Amino acid sequence: HKILVLHGPNLNQLGIRQPEIYGHETLDDINSRLFEKAAVNGWDITCLQSNHEGDLIDAIHAARTDGTGLIVINPAAYTHTSVAILDALNAYEGGVIEVHLSNIHKRESFRHHSYVSRRADGVIAGLGSRGYLLALDTLS
Ligand code: DQA
Repeated sequence: HKILVLHGPNLNQLGIRQPEIYGHETLDDINSRLFEKAAVNGWDITCLQSNHEGDLIDAIHAARTDGTGLIVINPAAYTHTSVAILDALNAYEGGVIEVHLSNIHKRESFRHHSYVSRRADGVIAGLGSRGYLLALDTLS
């Protein structure tokens, strides 16, 4: 399997940013665990973080034609604003799992709506970094 993990804006600040909400692990810690799990299972995994909406969209377009069978995406704040990311995902034919570290439904009302959920095959929220690992379980 070929997997693309996309991390949206501000997730490069994990570990420093509101640890009471997002935990103490850094993005490198999370990605290392994803690489380990992929290696054990013989999966090809790419992890990309960007603070720019267009970069995330370009990566989704590339996944459409490079054999990527699963996109795991934490769109971060773009979850709640980005029709453009939804449109890009709608043009992608593989599996899509949306992940949030925090339980967005327990937080401010502006976080309750996700554009990406209209396309996601599954949504995992509130389980911290374990959510990303669980998303990979959809392959086994
Ligand atoms: C988040 C939740 C979003 O509301 C927020 O903007 C983020 C992170 C999460 O992983 O819990 O940046 O996607």
